[in-house]
Amino acid sequence: LAGADLRGLLLSRIRDVPDYPQPGVVFKDITPLLADPAAFGALTGALAELCVRHRADKVVGLEARGFILAAPAAARAGLGFVPVRKAGKLPGVTHRQAYELEYGTAEIEVLGDAFVPGERVLVIDDVLATGGTAEASLELIRRAGAEVAGLAVLMELGFLGGRARLAPALDGAPLEAL
Ligand code: PRP
Repeated sequence: LAGADLRGLLLSRIRDVPDYPQPGVVFKDITPLLADPAAFGALTGALAELCVRHRADKVVGLEARGFILAAPAAARAGLGFVPVRKAGKLPGVTHRQAYELEYGTAEIEVLGDAFVPGERVLVIDDVLATGGTAEASLELIRRAGAEVAGLAVLMELGFLGGRARLAPALDGAPLEAL
């Protein structure tokens, strides 16, 4: 599946949950998509194709929902998978990157030896919202010695302006929203 057919199938399996996790927010729940083998298979297949199209050598998933999409996409594309984790979860030497949250800051980490210098990495996550998480991950990956082949997300919440915010961090690399 591709194009409008893929988009229609994926949209039909994402559930809007009003007032979660707080009043006024509509949460995009992907669990119906994950539970449907046709939709989940189509999604991981499309992500694997993006790995090939953008000549990725490795796939990064962003904790936690990004892991669920990135790991099967990497396996289908015949590539290795690297987790970018919230700080304090990875053993040994790491690179660490702080980023702003609505209230306060957070930190993400990747293992110091996760990448061969110069290898091309496709970053995968479920949602692009404000872009803060993705921006920090691109910075982190470059500091860890890899090249950004692109960023692929299932959903882009366009009204939050993440794409514009990410433009400098993408530095010409593609942003794909399925
Ligand atoms: C969500 C989502 C993205 C991020 C997008 O993750 O999975 O990673 O927020 O938001 P942003 O574009 O405004 O940074 P969350 O931190 O809720 O973690 P989870 O996947 O572990 O639930």
